[in-house]
Amino acid sequence: MNPVIELLQSHRSIRKFKPEPVAEEMIRSIVAAAQCASTSNFVQAYSIIRVKDPAVRKQIAELAGPQPWVEACPLFLVFCADLNRSELACRMNDREMVQGYTEQFIIATVDVALAAQNTMIAAESLGLGGVYIGGIRNNPQKICDLLRIPDHVYPVFGMCLGYPNDDPQRKPRLPLEAVLKTDRYTDGEDAARIGAYDQVCREYYIKRDGSARDDTWTQQISEMMGKAQRPHMKGFVQGKGFDLK
Ligand SMILES: Cc1cc2nc3c(=O)[nH]c(=O)nc-3n(C[C@H](O)[C@H](O)[C@H](O)COP(=O)(O)O)c2cc1C
Repeated sequence: MNPVIELLQSHRSIRKFKPEPVAEEMIRSIVAAAQCASTSNFVQAYSIIRVKDPAVRKQIAELAGPQPWVEACPLFLVFCADLNRSELACRMNDREMVQGYTEQFIIATVDVALAAQNTMIAAESLGLGGVYIGGIRNNPQKICDLLRIPDHVYPVFGMCLGYPNDDPQRKPRLPLEAVLKTDRYTDGEDAARIGAYDQVCREYYIKRDGSARDDTWTQQISEMMGKAQRPHMKGFVQGKGFDLK
């Protein structure tokens, strides 16, 4: 296996960090690598806010959960879908941006996710570890107030990064056959495959160091999908000028 694939297959989220800071040069290399991700129509519709202020970090950690690793990690980034800059590009060319299309919302959200995953991989390749923080969408308006995020920009998730002070086991993924389909969408064998995967996950959770529990994948997903998820998000993104038509 080549080293890139080995790195990708060794990913696990890290939530405990050594206090050692991440060197400025390293942060710049990581963000430069993030910027090399593919981007829809070259729009580069994202901004990354590095949160250094300890008081702001503390508030974000509370709003996101609480999730104490947000406060404790050496490097915390907030990834924003950003059409503010596109609007500027239009103004610089005496054009008016046609706004509010769901398609633009998808473009900006996909762009920021691609840049974020490049960030994670670049960081891991340098010996760092990290975890995404979707918890910032618990109260996205407060996050916008804290970080002065304007209209046409919305915070999608945060990311904690730093040198790992933990060595968790990798979480098993779905069987490849359940994910990779050929020529047409098929799901006839999914129940059997997912049933077997439930047992793999149960074993993983039982054997897991530190936070063992009896749980399966389908139990987790049915718990999550069986209730409303951040129902404020629709109104929030619409208030920011996204996803209106
Ligand atoms: C968009 C996104 C948001 C996430 N939000 C959180 C979060 O708020 N807190 C957390 O501890 N983990 C969060 N995670 C991490 C997932 O729980 C984790 O990636 C998943 O359980 C798989 O585990 P692994 O990354 O260790 O393989 C998030 C992951 C993604 C992709």
